[in-house]
Amino acid sequence: MTSPYKSIVILTGAGISAESGIPTFRAADGLWENHAIEEVATPEGFQNNPVLVHQFYNQRRRDLLHPDVKPNSAHSELARLEHQLESLSNTRFMLITQNIDNLHERAGSRKLIHMHGELLKMRCRETGLIFDIRQDLTLDHICRCCRQPGNLRPHVVWFGEIPLAMNQIEQALMACDFFAAIGTSGNVYPAAGFNQLAKRYGARTVELNLESTGSSFDEHHYGKASETVPALVNEILKNL
Ligand code: OAD
Repeated sequence: MTSPYKSIVILTGAGISAESGIPTFRAADGLWENHAIEEVATPEGFQNNPVLVHQFYNQRRRDLLHPDVKPNSAHSELARLEHQLESLSNTRFMLITQNIDNLHERAGSRKLIHMHGELLKMRCRETGLIFDIRQDLTLDHICRCCRQPGNLRPHVVWFGEIPLAMNQIEQALMACDFFAAIGTSGNVYPAAGFNQLAKRYGARTVELNLESTGSSFDEHHYGKASETVPALVNEILKNL
């Protein structure tokens, strides 16, 4: 079968997980509430007060693991898109998320890049080795590789650090002919510039958001991700 696209890249942000019960960053009740970004999301913040930073991410991890938090239809439709494209077409597909939750993989997405890291992973500051974590992380935690306490940090990208897999992401953006950004405010670079890079290389660019972000895309679809994403996926798949 033929697809109208050779290569599709989708970027997601906190808005796609909002309907699953995870607050966005910049909403009035957002994740940074009560904390300055510098305190909990920078290497300097971790150096100054590692206990506070661990507490912040421990609470995020507990919230994510709450039984009520589940993928919503926007996550599952993106997983369906990936699987349908794989079985029915030659279209390449890449899902890039800025989210550190695991809702895309729980919904079944596999071709997924967590450019800002993952809440359910921790990393040794000595060796860079990455381990799974589902419980609280503290300064007493003994690292499995270096056998030292205090060396483990959340495997998340903080401000001032370089997002993960940037080479792979840039190659995909330059090669794609369809790019969609879902539920992201376009405040944080480099992700906020992905639409422009894809556009420069000829992609159709589409924004799906609750409201206007002021970012420049060919098309804007406003509404809840649980409604706009299934509509977009249906539109792509009906042309297969
Ligand atoms: P933001 O909190 O900045 O933006 C969330 C966006 O989602 C907003 O534009 C909302 O309008 C939109 N939104 C909210 N609910 C929605 C829904 N139900 N359906 C569709 N859209 C909805 O979150 P991000 O753009 O993801 O980085 O933030 C980017 C980065 O800033 C994060 O990854 C994080 C933060 O600093 C790091 O920590 C490195």
